[in-house]
Amino acid sequence: ITAERTVAEALLAHYRVHARRLPWRSPPGAAPPDPYAVWLSEIMLQQTTVAAVIPYYERFLARWPTVEALAAAQDGDLMAAWAGLGYYARARNLLACARFVAGELGGRFPDTEEGLRALPGIGAYTAAAIAAIAFGRRAVVVDGNVERVVSRLFAVETPLPAGKAELRVLADGITPERQAGDFAQAMMDLGATICTPTRPACLTCPLAAMCVARARGTPERYPVKAPK
Ligand code: ADE
Repeated sequence: ITAERTVAEALLAHYRVHARRLPWRSPPGAAPPDPYAVWLSEIMLQQTTVAAVIPYYERFLARWPTVEALAAAQDGDLMAAWAGLGYYARARNLLACARFVAGELGGRFPDTEEGLRALPGIGAYTAAAIAAIAFGRRAVVVDGNVERVVSRLFAVETPLPAGKAELRVLADGITPERQAGDFAQAMMDLGATICTPTRPACLTCPLAAMCVARARGTPERYPVKAPK
């Protein structure tokens, strides 16, 4: 007898043991971290790798521990602290967003995707990530890593970029009602450490038994891309 187990159940069980302990995360299953810390990390992670972000994140949080503290920073001090992370529009938006939240919203970040999206520097992806991670909202968080995982799980043959809409629908279908933040970050971890582009480590993957691409023996063929 095999008990039916959903993708989310299998992934969350694995995440409870194997989650990367990144400084902006609370442990799996614990209360969500400070929205300010989540927001700061997600802005830094937009175009920069986890390894490069960690020391910047630690320095920023030590120097400006609250959104009010960041809002009071001098522009030049913030730009100097950001130096090396690149994409400096992010730093300007960071300050504009902090000043808006501190000045107009009583220091509280909006707790919905829609409210978050209205802030400087926060697009659809970042709004979904913050809503899920900081506020436990059910949100569909899809980046390139998640697209790869989902395309393999369902062996999606529609080539990217046209296949993006289908991948989003499939990602929505496996997103659980609860533990949305853990689920989003578990998907990110799976894509970053196991379901990698060229050599997926299917032998250690918690979703291997459910993965259609794996059953076909060709996980690295996905996501299918339109010829250039
Ligand atoms: N990339 C973007 N957000 C992330 C997060 N919360 N954890 C790991 N990688 C990420």
